[in-house]
Amino acid sequence: MSRADRFLNACRGLPVDTTPIWIMRQAGRYLPEYRAVRAKHSFLEVCHVPELACEVTLQPVDLLGVDAAILFSDIMIPLEGMGCSIEFNPGPVFAEPVRTAADVEKLRICEPEADVPFVLDAVRLIRRELGGRVPLIGFSGAPFTLAAYMVEGKGSRNFENLKRMMYAAPEVYRALMDKVSETVIRYLNAQIAAGAQAVQVFDTWGGILSPADYAEYVLPYSKRVIAGLDRSVPVIHFVKGCGLLLDHIRTAGGDVLGIDWHIDLADAVARVGQEFGVQGNLDPTVLLGPRDLVVERAREIVEKGRPAKGHVFNLGHGILPMVPVDNVKALVEAVHEAGAG
Ligand code: CP3
Repeated sequence: MSRADRFLNACRGLPVDTTPIWIMRQAGRYLPEYRAVRAKHSFLEVCHVPELACEVTLQPVDLLGVDAAILFSDIMIPLEGMGCSIEFNPGPVFAEPVRTAADVEKLRICEPEADVPFVLDAVRLIRRELGGRVPLIGFSGAPFTLAAYMVEGKGSRNFENLKRMMYAAPEVYRALMDKVSETVIRYLNAQIAAGAQAVQVFDTWGGILSPADYAEYVLPYSKRVIAGLDRSVPVIHFVKGCGLLLDHIRTAGGDVLGIDWHIDLADAVARVGQEFGVQGNLDPTVLLGPRDLVVERAREIVEKGRPAKGHVFNLGHGILPMVPVDNVKALVEAVHEAGAG
């Protein structure tokens, strides 16, 4: 058993030599090597050119020793294939937010091989360049998180436009979610066909609703997406703000549940049971603290993950740009050392 097997084995609940770790947003601005690429190319250019996407995808694998690579891209990319025009500044900004029935009508369902071939070329290139060192994770935004950006047109504090559509024009909301869900299914299955060895569905905004509204407006689409996937690879379902929603989220299916830091990992494991693995859940800001604290918190989370069917160490959300790289290296070492004990 080796580094190459750890992540996929943990996802499947199979034996591992130590706890595997990867980090959400692991290729990013905290790495000087990433900033060097970005000094010469825009963010969208890195997403659109397979050689550049491949280069930055491999950076954390080589520099940090993480146990999986994640495709460098963004959850907004398949929305270009639906007909949306998007810029990054630094977060996504849509030229025309989707607000009316006519706006939804105009959207196409993304055909990945025709509309975003560069993503699938990147997957194939990265698999070749990885040469089996570690597995490659593909990803998509969940329908609700994608719809949130499409309707708001950018990030939002209260998501007024999205929620107004949901409550006041539910037929428009549901028509949008139908199209986005179909896009997500095709997009993830195309990544799997191109060589992605696991996929993560990011529902960054799934936690902004009451549990009853989550069950009514989000869950059916997450369920539909997971049921529509090629299940020869493990599916990780990450919902930020999952703590109070876990009983609903479990019913969406998948292999591993992503856990953020607002719930203690031991409690999450107890609630999730032996049907799913868990992934998480260090508060990303702990990496701004002293190295000793990073190591201590890493050990605690490794212990809390032990009773799980499988545990993949990760942060509870994406890594922050101001994190010292040495702390990230210390985290990876601490997880591997504690997990082997
Ligand atoms: O995890 C990885 O390393 C793979 C690459 C990846 C990026 N974005 C690269 C990125 C992934 C999986 C994402 C997902 C993503 N993108 C999500 C879901 C997960 C999450 O973090 O909540 C969301 C909501 C987005 C939308 C998005 N993209 C925002 C809000 C921003 C701006 C915030 C920020 O961190 O700057 C982006 C830009 C973005 N996506 C960057 C990167 C590396 C920074 C771009 C730059 O280099 O300037």
